[in-house]
Amino acid sequence: MNDTLFGTVYLVGAGPGDPDLLTVKAQRLISNCDAIVYDSLVPNEILSLVKASCECIFVGKRRNKHSVPQPKTNELLLELVKSFKCIVRLKGGDPFVFGRGGEEAAYLSGKGVSVEVVPGVTSGIAASAYMGIPLTHRLCGSSVTFVTGHEGFNKKIPSVNWKELAKSSDSIVIYMGVHNLRYIVEQLLINGLNPLMPVAVIQQATVKGQRYLKSTLAEIVGQVEKEKFESPAIVIVGSVVNYQVSECAPTPSNVTMPISF
Ligand SMILES: C[S@@+](CC[C@H](N)C(=O)[O-])C[C@H]1O[C@@H](n2cnc3c(N)ncnc32)[C@H](O)[C@@H]1O
Repeated sequence: MNDTLFGTVYLVGAGPGDPDLLTVKAQRLISNCDAIVYDSLVPNEILSLVKASCECIFVGKRRNKHSVPQPKTNELLLELVKSFKCIVRLKGGDPFVFGRGGEEAAYLSGKGVSVEVVPGVTSGIAASAYMGIPLTHRLCGSSVTFVTGHEGFNKKIPSVNWKELAKSSDSIVIYMGVHNLRYIVEQLLINGLNPLMPVAVIQQATVKGQRYLKSTLAEIVGQVEKEKFESPAIVIVGSVVNYQVSECAPTPSNVTMPISF
């Protein structure tokens, strides 16, 4: 271990917005850290837990626009461990689910920095819970896949194998899928999914501004466009959507989250 790197970076999951979904460990670290580097999908109510002397740095990303490029964020974290003991790298949801946590952990670890991951409630799990939709069900959902929708039409070789997914996963939970929904639905239909397969779209799942749409694969794109659904949203495809128990869904928190991503 390099002596000049005396701090530890905690890659902390902030959960999906509702501050009540923070883990006890995340809350303790946020309240005690010396510096915090945070992303877009973190409400002020969570950031306000930091102590007055904490150095707060925003490195949030917007869709198609990285306000701070990833290499710069990596370098920033490396700089911070030279001056601070406890650094929280706070990410929405879980840091290892579509959050580039793996890249940051590998970079820091490769430089000899002490780094620790603190898992958070990922938005795919939270969105289903806040709608009362079980992601698995003994009658129709024996498998579930988490997938990014933020790729496809402009990639030469898409890294999501929609063909195999359509055949193999009962429930499909799509992150960052709203802007690319037409392409995704097209892929699922041409690869054999039933046009009547139920689909749920959940925007701002756990906070003020929560919106919900239930439809079918055949109809969902038109409805999402008509009702102007936006990021951040989770799309759930699968028969499990029909097993919704709305009565068990928690009330969304009154906090607001940034909507552009
Ligand atoms: C870059 S990914 C980050 C995922 C995050 N690491 C997680 O575990 O939830 C951003 C996407 O997560 C989803 N997301 C995050 N927060 C959400 C929320 N409160 N409601 C619905 N979707 C959310 C959206 O699909 C959004 O486009």
